[in-house]
Amino acid sequence: MHTNQDLLALLPLEHDIPEEHAVTDPVEQRAYLLDGRMIPWDGPMQRVESPIGVRRDGDIGSVYLGSCPQLDADAGRAAAEAVGRAWNNGMGQWPTMSLAARIECVEAFTRRMVARREEIVRLMMWEICKPLAECRTEFDRTVDSVRDTVNALMELDRASSRFVTEGGIRAQIRRAPLGPTLCMGPYNYPLNETLATLIPALLMGNPVIVKPPRLGKLLFGPLMEPFCDCFPPGVVNVVFGNRTLIGPILESGVISVLAFIGSSDAANAMRTSHPHPNQLRCILGLGAKNPAIVTKHADMELAVAECVAGSLSFSGQRCTALKLLFVHEDRLDEFIARFTDALSAMPLGMPWEDGVRITPLPEPGKTDYLHDLVEDALDHGARIVNPGGGLSGGNFFRPTVLSPVSDAMRVFHEEQFGPVVPIVPFADVRTVIDHIAASRFGQQMSLFSDDPGELARLIDPMVNQVCRVNLNCLCQRGPDTFPFTGRKDSAEGTLSVGDALRCFSIRTLVAAKGTARNNALLDAITRDHRSNFLTTEADPSPGGA
Ligand code: G3H
Repeated sequence: MHTNQDLLALLPLEHDIPEEHAVTDPVEQRAYLLDGRMIPWDGPMQRVESPIGVRRDGDIGSVYLGSCPQLDADAGRAAAEAVGRAWNNGMGQWPTMSLAARIECVEAFTRRMVARREEIVRLMMWEICKPLAECRTEFDRTVDSVRDTVNALMELDRASSRFVTEGGIRAQIRRAPLGPTLCMGPYNYPLNETLATLIPALLMGNPVIVKPPRLGKLLFGPLMEPFCDCFPPGVVNVVFGNRTLIGPILESGVISVLAFIGSSDAANAMRTSHPHPNQLRCILGLGAKNPAIVTKHADMELAVAECVAGSLSFSGQRCTALKLLFVHEDRLDEFIARFTDALSAMPLGMPWEDGVRITPLPEPGKTDYLHDLVEDALDHGARIVNPGGGLSGGNFFRPTVLSPVSDAMRVFHEEQFGPVVPIVPFADVRTVIDHIAASRFGQQMSLFSDDPGELARLIDPMVNQVCRVNLNCLCQRGPDTFPFTGRKDSAEGTLSVGDALRCFSIRTLVAAKGTARNNALLDAITRDHRSNFLTTEADPSPGGA
């Protein structure tokens, strides 16, 4: 009864798909990367179809994008052995390699990746339905962040390339790798958030297993050869599959670092399947329910523009999306009127169309889930306040604004990760503070007010609830040099260009009493370049990627 023919009509006919964006050659990824070799797979394959339906003969058909291996538990065990061999108790080629040599490998890989940009971007668009311009931005942002990470590493290296003397002890303190790392990114930023952990992990000397996300995995196909060619065997292993594959990798006990962006439940299951969970360092980006508070003193034009972008960019599928809007009751009508006006101008369509903002949702069962959330809110007294809200067609879900939302409703607590916008009216901001304090999430929030006193009164309690308070602005991760993290159940560890290098390494030092004899030994080691760790020379500046 929610199906809307107008939405179905937005799906393309076969011949509507512009030639330059059409899928001509499905990607048949029949091998995975292990130990520096592409291993052919003759077991079950996962078929990948685009969430974009195509109208054919009065019906909605699918677009076949390709397939990749559905690896089994044996492959998981083999991956753990491969990454363990590359680590070789910290004595492998990669963890002991000079920084300059590691940087060269990463830069060679980046050049190869840049050469495949259009292919990767196109696959991303078809696999996850992200608007094409945003796919391109994701790709370019990733390349920029690799370059920034290399620069941050060289800076870190320069700062560590000297001896310190304290209390008669002479020491050199550097950051050393932690060990075999498992990197798993999310579907909404499949390339960027996988490489945001993979590249710093590698640069710090950790060999890695990469498991691409369940949606957005074919786009790793064009990266397989570059990974294989640019890194020593076993340093980058790329495997495809589900928990059947991942379980044995963690149960092996080989993994030292889990870098995962996804749900808390999945993170807990992985952590507890490690035989020695305390040996597993976890760098996690988990759920979030970022609130906005729009006070009586907000600039409404600005607040609405930011809240629309904040809640509905990529159809609300950002961990940083605004997922609960608290609006002062005196300004509620004005806020809703402006918000729904802005929505009516927001284009829905295919991801290759210029300016399109709302695209089909790639997660199976997602529109049903969003309908359930909306029904529950309506049952508890909310209304859909925008025309066309609450309707879906195929994988499209029309943005749906709900008001008044209360804490009796599921949408108040659950992370919708889609185009549903709950508005909670308030009279006394202390009730809002109490709700935010009671939430199990703590990533970011946005405050909208033009009154400095009011802002200050909110900033102070809120900085101990979340890790970024955005003033008169949506929530976001960037710029990528800023720390990105969360409190409570939202994150573990901090990601940013600089912080990630620290996450994937541990401070380690070589120390000696500052006697003449020891000083002579230390000087001889450094003068003759006998150690990669103990050296007073920063690695030479490498060429650009
Ligand atoms: O999905 C979570 C992303 O880290 C959000 O990043 O704020 O740049 O969209 P963004």
